[in-house]
Amino acid sequence: MVHQAEARVGAIMRSQKPDPSDMRADDGGEHIGFDLVEVARMREMLVRWGSRLLVRVLTPAERAYVEGKRDPAPHLAGMVAAKEACFKALGLGPAQGVGWHDIAIGHSPMGAPLVTVSGGARQAMAALGGRNMAVSISHERSVAGAIAVLLRV
Ligand SMILES: CC(C)(COP(=O)(O)OP(=O)(O)OC[C@H]1O[C@@H](n2cnc3c(N)ncnc32)[C@H](O)[C@@H]1OP(=O)(O)O)[C@@H](O)C(=O)NCCC(=O)NCCS
Repeated sequence: MVHQAEARVGAIMRSQKPDPSDMRADDGGEHIGFDLVEVARMREMLVRWGSRLLVRVLTPAERAYVEGKRDPAPHLAGMVAAKEACFKALGLGPAQGVGWHDIAIGHSPMGAPLVTVSGGARQAMAALGGRNMAVSISHERSVAGAIAVLLRV
């Protein structure tokens, strides 16, 4: 454990990217991710791509949630930020086999976001010794942000 952590710190200090296979190993470290998404960008993409964008990025339940809102763009931006934050916490994203639909954002009865992880994301999470993923989302008029934490309990 210690030598793995030292190797990663050494790599960072030498301004080198750690080996991706090292990032996927259970190194005992904490794994968090944070992301910001511009609401205007989502609004433009919704105009340009419409339901094609929603089908690609969101699960059917997420789509129904977002489309049920009076103004879907901030809620879409929040969900995209949440998924991107989860990709960061896992150290892997769509280019490495973790799909947009592998991270599904549902809601508690109080409205709090609940993450369900499947497919490549579940494999990546298990490789890191994670059992669950927690996210928190916020959106204002112009920007949405989300933080994700890999939980080991
Ligand atoms: C949670 C709450 C404070 C968010 O208020 P807000 O500042 O208007 O909203 P933000 O833009 O910062 O965040 C919105 C996101 O918060 C999340 N959220 C909603 N209710 C939540 C809750 N009870 N707990 C945690 N997160 C919540 C959702 O992801 C929401 O995004 P969505 O609308 O796209 O689903 C507000 O909904 C509230 O007061 N709810 C009832 C009381 C409560 O549960 N409070 C918990 C924190 S003290």
